Amino acid sequence: MNNPESKNKIELLLTEEKIMQRVRDLGAQITADYQGRRLHLVGILKGAWVFLADLVRHIDLEVTVDFLGIASYGAGTTSSGQVKITKDLDQSIEGLDVLAVEDILDTGLTFTYLHKMLSARKPKSLKLVALLDKAERRIKPVQADYVGFTIPDLFVVGYGLDYGQKYRQLRDVCVLHPTPEDAGIATAGQ
Ligand code: IMP
Repeated sequence: MNNPESKNKIELLLTEEKIMQRVRDLGAQITADYQGRRLHLVGILKGAWVFLADLVRHIDLEVTVDFLGIASYGAGTTSSGQVKITKDLDQSIEGLDVLAVEDILDTGLTFTYLHKMLSARKPKSLKLVALLDKAERRIKPVQADYVGFTIPDLFVVGYGLDYGQKYRQLRDVCVLHPTPEDAGIATAGQ
């Protein structure tokens, strides 16, 4: 585990091995649940791209992939639920079995917004897989259909998750303790 931003303290939460095992299990479960159907994955950028890249290779179905780019703004390590679309879907999801792929469910504000937006486009079905779930932080009553790991109320980085756009390349999921001068100036990005 290297720390590309050494002034902030990071500590290991989930190892690469543990994540890979869980991603394999999620892929098997999704494969079983959607047997005989075509699955359309919608990755929520930017946080979910690493997870999606691993997950899709463990789904043994006819799969298509699209991405929705969003930025949710908030001070430091909290998201405000104000969502800006930075990249729309390339193709229509009408009539498709859609599985949205999220990095983390925190307050639920972001996915509440996305669920409304995606449902309005009339998919045949709409489900959510989230690698991480900070269930105790929930403000909106959203639940993922598939969850990798339920974690405590900690700010985490790595495996696609960022702090001020950094740390996405860490292979493990780590807890970040920002230095006092760094806290509050970064954007909780997607
Ligand atoms: P929510 O709207 O509070 O559910 O937050 C959703 C988004 O906030 C996630 O998709 C992440 O982009 C970001 N986020 C929430 N918690 C964390 C974290 O611990 N690390 C990195 N990003 C986070």
